Amino acid sequence: MTSQPMLFTPLALRGITLPNRIVVSPMVQYRAQDGEVNDYHITHYGKFALGRAGAIFTEACAVEPAGRVTDGDLGLWHDGQISGMQRVTRFLKAEGSVPAIQLAHAGRKGAMQTAFAGNGPLTAADIAAGHHPWAVVSVTGEPISPDWITPDMLSERGIARIIADFVAAARRADAAGFDIAEVHGAHGYLMATFLSPITNTRNDGYGGDLAGRMRFALEVTQAVREVWPAHKPLFFRVSSLDGAQGGWDMGDTVALAKALKALGVDVMDCSSGGLTGSATAAIIPRHPGFQVPFAAQVRREAAMNTMAVGLILDGPQAEAILQAGDADLVAIGRQALYDPFFAVHAAEALGCDPDFARWPENHGWWLDKRAKSQGRPR
Ligand SMILES: Cc1cc2nc3c(=O)[nH]c(=O)nc-3n(C[C@H](O)[C@H](O)[C@H](O)COP(=O)(O)O)c2cc1C
Repeated sequence: MTSQPMLFTPLALRGITLPNRIVVSPMVQYRAQDGEVNDYHITHYGKFALGRAGAIFTEACAVEPAGRVTDGDLGLWHDGQISGMQRVTRFLKAEGSVPAIQLAHAGRKGAMQTAFAGNGPLTAADIAAGHHPWAVVSVTGEPISPDWITPDMLSERGIARIIADFVAAARRADAAGFDIAEVHGAHGYLMATFLSPITNTRNDGYGGDLAGRMRFALEVTQAVREVWPAHKPLFFRVSSLDGAQGGWDMGDTVALAKALKALGVDVMDCSSGGLTGSATAAIIPRHPGFQVPFAAQVRREAAMNTMAVGLILDGPQAEAILQAGDADLVAIGRQALYDPFFAVHAAEALGCDPDFARWPENHGWWLDKRAKSQGRPR
């Protein structure tokens, strides 16, 4: 292929233009202390910028300390955390990538183990190793299971406080230089537990029917949109379905997408699962592009931009998703960990970067010279 692939067609969202359609998906790293950026994060996010991803999401950033998944998560709950984030955004922008932040509250999944420690509640051994649990809040007072921390059920006042935390974090994210913000409504964290009929058994105005269960997500999003600059896009990540009998389903996701679009959300980021247990665990068979149909249905039925995610592994697969009209953006998670240079490798695979011109010049010049010395065609 020599013509410009869709994957490398810029996408303008409000006043921000992504140079290509490849987005690094939010991925917790467990490397922060007190929610602060350190050298690890600069290097971690920086490598994706050198790899020329169009936009790069931070991991889920907690809007209050109790909203962290683990004690190693990033956060934006006070102004002192802005300057570290500025280091990240400065570097990403200097390399031509759009810096994006995911704003999150863990709810009853707060204070848990890392994925590789088991993704369960903290054990005596974790506590002995210095990982101390904290009080968590949720949609109800129900823990995930009896061995997890029992959360405090949020009162309407508590809900208002968390909405204010999202707003304050969004303001800080703007001050830190992020150009995209995403509200995390997926994977069994606080907002997802409000959405799902399995976890939301409240009988006040934040529970009951679909409108009641969507209310918290819509109020947070509306409040964030009001302070998030009009020229900057807002994304929303949803678990498109719980994957459990009687749970949140695609009809609900499309209804939510329409309501969010009306509030000024620009892109639905269509993940799935994770209502209980590990972040994305669900009874959804894993195969390349397994969640793409969710993005396709939302794009079709809510007539809005979508981002597909989940086992998108190479350029041709990503290009086919866009060509099929299934999504406007592709989010790359673990494949970006495996290959931080995913975007430039995709360009090579799609034949639109024969002379390594998409690479940082100080890499590409050498790679081109090496290729020619090996007699590779330009
Ligand atoms: C190490 C790791 C950390 C993750 N952390 C987050 C996160 O902070 N927020 C989120 O919404 N999803 C998170 N996810 C889910 C990914 O964003 C992505 O949706 C998922 O890994 C599927 O995409 P993939 O098959 O390309 O990895 C995480 C995934 C991994 C592998």
